[in-house]
Amino acid sequence: MAAALISIRTEGDKIEIVNQLLLPHITEYIPIDSVEEAHDAIKTMKIRGAPAIASLASLSFSQYFTRALRQNPLPDYFASPEALKAHVQPILDYLYTARPTAVNLGNATRRLTKKLEDLSAVTQDTRAIVEDLIVEGKLIADEDVGRNKAMAKWGGDWLINRVQPSSPKTLNVLTVCNTGSLATSGYGTALGLITYLHEVGQLDKAYFTQTTPYHQGSRLTALELKTLQIPNVMICDTMVGSLFQHYPIHAVAVGADRIAKNGDTANKIGTYNAAVLAARHNIPFIVVAPISTVDLDTESGAQIPIEQRPPLEACLVRGVVYPSENGKVEQAQVMITPTDLEGIYNPSFDVTPADLITAIVTEKGVAVKKDGEKTFDLTPIV
Ligand code: MRU
Repeated sequence: MAAALISIRTEGDKIEIVNQLLLPHITEYIPIDSVEEAHDAIKTMKIRGAPAIASLASLSFSQYFTRALRQNPLPDYFASPEALKAHVQPILDYLYTARPTAVNLGNATRRLTKKLEDLSAVTQDTRAIVEDLIVEGKLIADEDVGRNKAMAKWGGDWLINRVQPSSPKTLNVLTVCNTGSLATSGYGTALGLITYLHEVGQLDKAYFTQTTPYHQGSRLTALELKTLQIPNVMICDTMVGSLFQHYPIHAVAVGADRIAKNGDTANKIGTYNAAVLAARHNIPFIVVAPISTVDLDTESGAQIPIEQRPPLEACLVRGVVYPSENGKVEQAQVMITPTDLEGIYNPSFDVTPADLITAIVTEKGVAVKKDGEKTFDLTPIV
């Protein structure tokens, strides 16, 4: 199988991300040299996907302090753990503000805050504290791939067991948005499950929605499935119902940006539509997301903050000039609406209630609702 795409590259304290605003036609890695540049890359969606934005925030935090340790003399905030905390916390609070819905970012900054607290309680050696914080920041990114592979196997085996396909290569799975290597540090969540089914010879085709207005499906998932040579079919977001009426779809597998304590799940806008239609057609609806996406402090979906993206983003489409003039690849952005359109609704995510979700998969296993229950008990898988 061809090498997967990589969202973040690191070498020593150097960080580069692939600019996902230019994909699939232009693959350009851009350097990230500060927490401000990481914050901007997350906010402007040069990098996106709940696990990937948490990874970049953590890596940029580690980069910042790796460079601080090289200063001679060390910066003043190394004078004491209190001074260190007073310097570190605003940086974490700032990174947390990049995007509001994906809880992974908040879990990463809270994890680093807790690490700082724990270390400061046992030593006054600020250099040692900072060295451990750097390691922790890198760990948050490094843990991702192993988790994703574990989830893919749990979810894939659960689906194979549920469907009991009569012959190999017969399972068709629909997904929404992009949840592959570009949205994580590698392999992916829901797209990881689809990749696993392909690897074990059970997948017929992967179906994916365009996922407007940012086109994570038509630009990023299309590129990943093509790169991985996984048979696939793109559909427009409006065609999910028709697809279910005319094709044997065995499951819908999606990622998540925040899963509430009862199982209500926030994910890319359009996911709820697919869940309602999947319930109408008795198609299993599977959420695949790491434990760092589960927010036990949020009782239900009603409390999940939903990011509203700039209205202009819903009026624009990015791509390349087509047909190209003498083979040149020229990035282009066009406005598809009247330039003075006023009323624009552009939430980035929606919430699928737990009663429309068949299974939730984390790296610890698969949760399903007890008979007659409308919500999940997630304790076994967190
Ligand atoms: O706005 P995006 O592209 O960051 O939204 C991404 C999604 O909704 C994904 O499904 C989710 O973050 C999981 S990515 C593994």
